[in-house]
Amino acid sequence: MSAPLAIILAAGLGTRMRSQLAKVLHPAAGRPMIHYPVLAARAAGCARIVTVLGHQAPEVTAALKGLPCQVVIQRKQLGTAHAVLQARRWFASLRGPVVIVNGDLPLLSEATIRRLLEAHRSQPATLTVASVRLSDPTGYGRLIRSAGGRVAAVVEEIDATPAERGVTEANGGLYVAEGRWLADALRKIRPDNAKREYYLTDLVKIAVAGGGVVQAVPVEASEELLGVNSRADLARAEARLRERINARHLAAGVTMRHPATVFIDDEVTIGQDCLLSPMVQLEGRTSIGSGSTVHAGVRIRNSRLGRGVTILDGCIIDESDVADGAVIGPFARLRPGARIGPQARIGNFVEVKRSRIGADSKVNHLSYVGDATIGRGVNIGAGTITCNYDGVRKHATVIGDEVFVGSDVQFVAPVRIGRGAMIAAGATVTRDVPAGALAISRVAQENKPGWAKTRLTVQKKKKRKKK
Ligand code: UD1
Ligand code: CA
Repeated sequence: MSAPLAIILAAGLGTRMRSQLAKVLHPAAGRPMIHYPVLAARAAGCARIVTVLGHQAPEVTAALKGLPCQVVIQRKQLGTAHAVLQARRWFASLRGPVVIVNGDLPLLSEATIRRLLEAHRSQPATLTVASVRLSDPTGYGRLIRSAGGRVAAVVEEIDATPAERGVTEANGGLYVAEGRWLADALRKIRPDNAKREYYLTDLVKIAVAGGGVVQAVPVEASEELLGVNSRADLARAEARLRERINARHLAAGVTMRHPATVFIDDEVTIGQDCLLSPMVQLEGRTSIGSGSTVHAGVRIRNSRLGRGVTILDGCIIDESDVADGAVIGPFARLRPGARIGPQARIGNFVEVKRSRIGADSKVNHLSYVGDATIGRGVNIGAGTITCNYDGVRKHATVIGDEVFVGSDVQFVAPVRIGRGAMIAAGATVTRDVPAGALAISRVAQENKPGWAKTRLTVQKKKKRKKK
């Protein structure tokens, strides 16, 4: 007997989502929904995984890049049985189990797939289906049993009699059958139902009619078989995924002061002894080194934070690197390509884009730093701006180590500042500054004695006249 093959059904549009986006592309905890059953099947030891795609197949294929699965196309969505048929060449001559998984089961665990495979193996059945008891089975196919308690059929809700609708044992959308039997049985399915679709669930009737045994394996954790059909289902599934992810990090030594408000995507990694305040969102492939603290209201996406980093409240950090011991915020924005060096300090109302800030440097207040390379130990004064854009192209500002920049300076790029130079407050720097030099560009100040006082008296007189 060969290792199991998995077929994942994901060709449908998902009409009930009311979306332009194919259902399985909707993200849940930072991954397109389709990733979850693929990863679960892989973890459960399925040697080969075939996904059946239809709606937005190119986009779904792109979303599956890097995952261990093959793709077949179902051109017309004629039903779940028709979908499985598209993968026929993978199992038509297979002497071994085929696991079929609905693609809209993001909570399905590897353990449940294993359990189903194990049940199919140990209790030879023609067909094994996962069943689930639901207080409200609306939308699910009902598992119909004979008087003797044997599984006799699955009836879709739309085709069910009122009595059948009253059944609370539902079909979970996860099945195991032997490859060759499956290939044969699928051909016998006819679209003779309310939807005129080829129902995969008719396999049950076919197995029973052929004298076979259909086994239902009850899955106690009914959430695992939550089929996402609507946005409300998606929100429920995502909430559960987040709880699981948070539990994983809590167990691994991350403190969360209010886990329910901390949103961590599935691929995020967090080192030991990190502290996450309420309302923190960690997205995409973010990684955070040990001993770091992220304060409230921070969103970090696809970024790398070193060890002992502090992110103060209200920051957005996107596709950036923050080295060990750096302090960011409050209210700072790191846009793509910001590289903040060790122990550096990015303060309030500072925006950094595609720039390197060297170790121990400080950009503490109200600045814009774009397309700049700033050395080590540099001080950038309050209100400093790199004028990097001339309306057509972006230009670079290069600032050497140990440079001191006073407040309210504009660097009109391209411009280079040599090591250890000083830029006087209020300067507009349009030319390179040599190392060790002072650059000052100010209109000489003039004081006009008594001028202000005189103006005040003149104005008061005018006012009196008006009255
Ligand atoms: C299906 C089952 C139902 C079960 C429920 C569990 C059928 C006929 N019904 O209903 O008994 O209780 O799942 O969640 O199977 N798909 C295709 N091609 C198609 C049609 C569907 O690939 O032509 C895919 C969808 O993209 C989806 C999966 O199959 O990922 C299930 O389809 P869906 O329409 O969600 O079936 P349900 O109505 O939920
Ligand atoms: Ca479904």
